[in-house]
Amino acid sequence: MIKSSTNLGYSLVSSPDTLSPAEIKAGLKTKVIGKNIQYFKETESTNIIAREMAGSVQEGTVVIAESQTGGRGRLGRKWISPQGGVWFSVILKPKLQPLHAPTITLLAGVAVAKVIRSYGLAAKIKWPNDVLINGKKTCGILTEIGAEMDSINYIILGIGIDANVDTETFPYDVRDLSTSLKKELGHGINRVEFVQKLFSELEDLYLKFQKEGFSPILDEWRNMSATIGEWVKITTQTKTIYGEAIGVDSEGALILETGEGKLEKIVAGNCEHLRRGYGT
Ligand code: BTN
Repeated sequence: MIKSSTNLGYSLVSSPDTLSPAEIKAGLKTKVIGKNIQYFKETESTNIIAREMAGSVQEGTVVIAESQTGGRGRLGRKWISPQGGVWFSVILKPKLQPLHAPTITLLAGVAVAKVIRSYGLAAKIKWPNDVLINGKKTCGILTEIGAEMDSINYIILGIGIDANVDTETFPYDVRDLSTSLKKELGHGINRVEFVQKLFSELEDLYLKFQKEGFSPILDEWRNMSATIGEWVKITTQTKTIYGEAIGVDSEGALILETGEGKLEKIVAGNCEHLRRGYGT
């Protein structure tokens, strides 16, 4: 809003709630993430745009949109992305073997949960990287990689957060499972500030990962995990497994105890938390 005051010209007292790159960059303390921002008022999916440009842009480039018409979720699902959310994709180029790519996804979940916690909300992470508040999903992460057999060319880290979204307008099947920061706090947040904090947190953890490896990040993931200790149902492309989630290994795979001490390692799949004993 522009306000006029007699003889003093015009002063900017507030700006509309947009994620303008200029505003984001104005208070940004990062060196890599968000130095280059491609902004869209609306696009099909920031992951699609990021993938198209990944080969030709610097690491840390971000594609961000006010809304997505074809937002993509994990396991081929749709991701509802109306205005008021935070929908973006970061292009990273880590020197990693493709096998270790899931560690970056877990790292992103830790970054989001930490930033949400800074608003006083008890965010937790459901394996692999849904961020929950009071048991309901408020953030999803979709990682796509471009790789050779033994090296990663790029990772697209697609992050969607229901910041100021009214989840009551979501279709019936996801409405009860979702929440937003606005709903949990009772008021909307400043999304520019949120994005700045998240870029900083992502960069801090990414640098830590490069210096010290995955172990300190995994410790943080475990401390914020909603899944460890739960009975879960895992659906993979080929099977459904029930068991108790007893841990996560150094590659980010979930370790399940499926009965009589038998352990299963799950690298990818859908995870549902169950009541103790169900399905066993
Ligand atoms: C999930 O299914 O939990 C993952 C959802 C990921 C959504 C984000 S929003 C920004 C980026 N662009 C997309 O199309 N998807 C990701």
